[in-house]
Amino acid sequence: MPRELMLERIRKAQQETDQKKELIRNGRMRQHFHFMPQTGWLNDPNGLIWFRGKYHYFYQHNPYYGMWDSMHWGHAVSEDLLHWEYLPVALAPSEPYDDYLRGGCFSGSAVEHDGRLFLIYTGTAYHADGLEQSQCVAFSEDGVHFEKYEGNPVLRAPEGIRKRNFRDPRVWKHGDRYYLVCAADCGGRGQALLYRSEDLLHWTYVNVLAESRGEWGYMWECPDFYRLGDKYVLTFSPMGAGDHTAVYFVGDFDYDTGTFDCQRAGEMDWGMDFYAPQSFEAPDGRRIVTAWANEVAAAPFWKDSGPTYREGWCGFFALPREVRLMPDLSLQFVPVRELQTLRTDARRMNRFSVGDEALALTAGDGVSCEIKLKIDLAATNAQQVELFLRCGGGRKTVCTFDFQRMQMSVDRNEADGWSQGISRSALFLKGKRELDVHIFLDQSSVEIFADQYRNNHADNVYAGNEQNQIWIRARGGSAVISGYESYGMKECFR
Ligand code: FRU
Repeated sequence: MPRELMLERIRKAQQETDQKKELIRNGRMRQHFHFMPQTGWLNDPNGLIWFRGKYHYFYQHNPYYGMWDSMHWGHAVSEDLLHWEYLPVALAPSEPYDDYLRGGCFSGSAVEHDGRLFLIYTGTAYHADGLEQSQCVAFSEDGVHFEKYEGNPVLRAPEGIRKRNFRDPRVWKHGDRYYLVCAADCGGRGQALLYRSEDLLHWTYVNVLAESRGEWGYMWECPDFYRLGDKYVLTFSPMGAGDHTAVYFVGDFDYDTGTFDCQRAGEMDWGMDFYAPQSFEAPDGRRIVTAWANEVAAAPFWKDSGPTYREGWCGFFALPREVRLMPDLSLQFVPVRELQTLRTDARRMNRFSVGDEALALTAGDGVSCEIKLKIDLAATNAQQVELFLRCGGGRKTVCTFDFQRMQMSVDRNEADGWSQGISRSALFLKGKRELDVHIFLDQSSVEIFADQYRNNHADNVYAGNEQNQIWIRARGGSAVISGYESYGMKECFR
């Protein structure tokens, strides 16, 4: 009985989780206010939705250990996006179309239909002629226990699309119809394919929503598509497009023709640890996005997924960010205001200037904290401003604003003896009087937002608690900091 098999696997996953969760709870490297799995491995956010008064996070999950393997869908709910209650695994591999050790229930999304919660996900299985990915449906009356549709799969790779690279359906409702975009590899060019349906079970192909002509890689993982103001936004994680890991396109969309007229491209986050973002609409209309805070193994700078597997877990989500459209069609990604409720120990400093000699700054316990500052560009003649984060015992993570090279960077080569690499992005400062910087440090991550939340870097750092100092320095001149505030952050885990 296939239904029985899924239930049995969910029970097994739960037993394993119950046995190990205390261990993970006490992990030295576990996050304090970023969402992470109760045990085992987490990658992409899936099926994010506000349903019956709660936010639901589903996630790519291996409950057994802190490495990627046969994919389940983990599940948690929250009322404030900060405190999460874990629920039983929602989906486990169990059917010929999704039961394969190096496959399983891959990424997808959620939508409400007739009062029920529907999940659309990619079944990944291995058949005689190779790996096959197809789109499958599961539904639930109570939003907790799911049943796979007996007519699965509902969508198979169309002609010309590689069967092994056809995944990550993102579904939404418009009028009386459902639409989905799905990632496809068309002869080595990434595509987002658009489909429509009346019932979520029968799908009609509409159009290629957008595609790579070589410049955006060979596969667009986890596409997402939504309306923002009077524009539409397409986001995806391209494979084979250099340091681009989370791209956005902004343009106009026509439901009649399925045509997306793209007018601007940008990067959601330039850090090394921001991948496979997915968004959802909050009940107050905000468009909120989170992502898997890790780099994918196919990335050019990938080394590994970090040392936390030794504590029985790996992976967490980036801070939830509100997406806002600017008049020039660039996007801002602003950490959600709910985070302000975690603030403790507020501190402020008046305008000050800094030169060659590093100045100590304070923020909470220096490990799990928030910092906001502004660099007065008119009063600054330095070539660089450097922020040293999580310093101690000769280790540090360095964020540099280089006004000569016009570059922002985050260097973690000396961060913790484990992490490597420098994330880089261009600075655009023409006509600007100040540069705003907003930083969140958690136990194992650094997230830095600059230039009105449009130049962002999420980088994981596995620094010990003795690495709790923060310093600032200017090079080749002096810099004026025109505003500084900082906070400690309350821990959110129950
Ligand atoms: C992105 C991804 C998706 C896939 C899932 C498998 O990180 O590779 O394309 O559905 O992870 O876990």
